[in-house]
Amino acid sequence: MNDVPVIQIGNLHKSYENKGKSEQVLKDINLNIRKGETIAILGKSGCGKSTLLNLIGGFLTTDTGQIHFKGEEVTKPGRKIVMLFQDYGLLPWRTVLKNVELGLENTDLSSDQRREKALYYLNMVGLDDRLDRFPSQLSGGMQQRVAIARALAIEPDVLLMDEPFGALDTFTRYFLQDELLKIQKQAETTVILVTHDIDESIYLADRVVIMGSNPGQIIREVPIDTYKPRDRSGDDFQHFRKLILNEFELIHSKPSIEFNI
Ligand SMILES: Nc1ncnc2c1ncn2[C@@H]1O[C@H](COP(=O)(O)OP(=O)(O)O)[C@@H](O)[C@H]1O
Ligand SMILES: [Mg+2]
Repeated sequence: MNDVPVIQIGNLHKSYENKGKSEQVLKDINLNIRKGETIAILGKSGCGKSTLLNLIGGFLTTDTGQIHFKGEEVTKPGRKIVMLFQDYGLLPWRTVLKNVELGLENTDLSSDQRREKALYYLNMVGLDDRLDRFPSQLSGGMQQRVAIARALAIEPDVLLMDEPFGALDTFTRYFLQDELLKIQKQAETTVILVTHDIDESIYLADRVVIMGSNPGQIIREVPIDTYKPRDRSGDDFQHFRKLILNEFELIHSKPSIEFNI
């Protein structure tokens, strides 16, 4: 990791038109993200997390302010910043292998090179024994891993993930979070993860960026400066959990309900 930001977001504002009225969704967002860093953007539903991620990916444009990727302004989607969508986006009529190769089409790679690269990343996510399966023949967790392999095969500098584990059961989620940690370490990808799950943000991120709502704004950045993989039941983890819960005012000093026993 070095200190030159891969992503620089400066004085960003974004509004949407709703029924002829302009509604501010993001207000004065400033954020620098270093190479190899994993950032979790944490906030309540509707606070503008997906909007921010879509802006970073070049799928939306800012009203004012800029987003720079390696010093160049982001104006449209590119191959260096890849979005992993919530619904996986796999093509049902393509096999696992062909789904991963999909991301490499329209490049200079030969079909052999495409296959080689797809195999490398499918091996990394532990699916090299499922190459000829179709998405419908895989569990949700496996489909998610195919989507991760496809995103990584493009070898992006930045991987954007929008609540990637939200639809999975706890055990699959924990398993895939560990997979992501391993893969991220191996590929040294910069990861920007959007989540409303406090534990997920503490488990995965080097820094948790807490967003407030109406309009969406960064209210605090919390560096999680402990070694990974982290102990979900450890004291450090509880410390960060408490700190973040406090920020959302989810900790009460005394019970708000009186119980009559
Ligand atoms: N295309 C759009 N047009 C108008 N309003 C939108 C659009 N997309 C999102 N919004 C509104 O912007 C706010 C933030 O949405 P979003 O970025 O999806 O939040 P989050 O991902 O944190 O749940 C919400 O109030 C949402 O209704
Ligand atoms: Mg969202």
